[in-house]
Amino acid sequence: MKTKVLMVCLGNICRSPLAEGVLKSKVDSNTVLVDSSGTAGYHVGNPPDKRSVAVAKKHGIDISTQKCRQFSKNDFEKFDLIYAMDESNFINILSLANTKKDEKKVRLLLDELDLGFNEVPDPYYGGVDGFEEVYQMINSACEAIVKKLN
Ligand code: 4NP
Repeated sequence: MKTKVLMVCLGNICRSPLAEGVLKSKVDSNTVLVDSSGTAGYHVGNPPDKRSVAVAKKHGIDISTQKCRQFSKNDFEKFDLIYAMDESNFINILSLANTKKDEKKVRLLLDELDLGFNEVPDPYYGGVDGFEEVYQMINSACEAIVKKLN
């Protein structure tokens, strides 16, 4: 059985598409399925933000063909692990959980690390440097996830 992992942020155009691309680049797609979504529906159907596409490309990952979608209650059925990028996403996802089993699937991505903070900052309104910082945090967290999955 494949392990199914969902990365979730607010818009599904900056952070979670990067997290999807980074984790996919580190796992065998025969054993781990990775997807992403956003708690908000502002950008549904759109590709990721150009700045996320660029930072991913710089690190050898193509996320340009991803399409934004909104998180839905059905995702609790489809996924084993649901990683929120920040506390606000975490709370919004939990508010849609129906059971204790659903709740147990939800984690903060940076809780995989010991950084002294646990939110991937929203880079949407900032500059390009913010996207590289976000990439580095996501990359380290995904390395930790891969170690756990193996
Ligand atoms: P994301 O960033 O949650 O990392 O995709 C954002 C993207 C869009 C908006 C906010 C955050 N927005 O307000 O449109």
